[in-house]
Amino acid sequence: MIELFKDLKTTSDQGITSWEAPSNIALVKYWGKFKDQIPANPSLSFTLSNCHSKTTLNYRLRSEVSDDYSIDFYLDDEPKEDFIPKIKTFFDRIEAYLPFLKSYDFEIRSTNSFPHSSGIASSASGMAALALCLLEMTVKSIEETNSEDFYQKASFLARLGSGSGCRSIEGPLVQWGSTPSISNSSDLFGIPYPTDIHPVFENYQDCILIVHKGSKAVSSTVGHQLMENHPFAKQRFAQAHQHIEKLIAILQSGDLNAFVELVELEALTLHAMMLTSNPNFILMKPNTLAIIEKVREFRAHTGIPICFTLDAGANVHLLYPHKDAIASFDFILKDLVAYCENQQYICDQLGMGAKRLS
Ligand code: DP6
Repeated sequence: MIELFKDLKTTSDQGITSWEAPSNIALVKYWGKFKDQIPANPSLSFTLSNCHSKTTLNYRLRSEVSDDYSIDFYLDDEPKEDFIPKIKTFFDRIEAYLPFLKSYDFEIRSTNSFPHSSGIASSASGMAALALCLLEMTVKSIEETNSEDFYQKASFLARLGSGSGCRSIEGPLVQWGSTPSISNSSDLFGIPYPTDIHPVFENYQDCILIVHKGSKAVSSTVGHQLMENHPFAKQRFAQAHQHIEKLIAILQSGDLNAFVELVELEALTLHAMMLTSNPNFILMKPNTLAIIEKVREFRAHTGIPICFTLDAGANVHLLYPHKDAIASFDFILKDLVAYCENQQYICDQLGMGAKRLS
């Protein structure tokens, strides 16, 4: 048992906890993992603000002892049986740290601020919100939920639900995965990015263009597995360490040309890993590429440092400074929205992390 979780128990027979946790977008991507959700490489993300999950956990001590969990799950007030296996896997992974999980009946109610069918993954924010709700069951006073120790434990637990979920607890930037250039970095939890950030990154914007709303042809779980025997894995993992180190200087100096170059290289490398795994797969759509070309043309033409990044999907995240928001948004509306499914996009920006809901 790691030191972090010595003697965690709950004493109340019943209660209710409620948290909002944000989505995040990685600048340096996590792709590839080992047993127990240990990342194969370090990652660094922007915490978002408007895209979040809200989860309410009702718990009540069970009258009879059982060797299975008792979980009811609702998304937007609709019962969703198909989410329960994922939650049970999460509970299996965290039971060693929260040994009371089989002693309670749980009712979990969750909503996402972004449309369910937008193709935006809710697993990071959803697992982070649930981890926070479960951890709050163990605190002796509510003040404890404001402590760094609480956030670190929540990040540790969220990681076991979804790797990128450990970066959905704090903000505005979170780093996860042990790497020599960041002294307190850990494979076990995300940490608030510890180094100075240039003011140009304050309120940095992320406009998410919804290119494809449907579910992905290949899940992240399978994608991570395919890194196990990937011919370029070793080089890719080494590159991620180098990119984190390079970003430290970029984020400090506010060198936006270097930022654009690195962020786009990371996004394309992630998809290059998918294109070259065995079996290979393509998550980008023709409109993803059309948007990328337009963004590069616009940037060359105007000098505005707007850049793209991608998740494991077809949607495009456009990142730009707050001072360029009007011109960038104008461009998005005029030239890019036509490439989105049902003209759908979501405007977001850097956020400060999870919130306890009263
Ligand atoms: C491409 O966190 O969804 O978004 O740990 O299996 O839940 P699991 O994977 P997940 O992978 C995210 C991959 C990514 C890159 C990133 O967010 O760093």
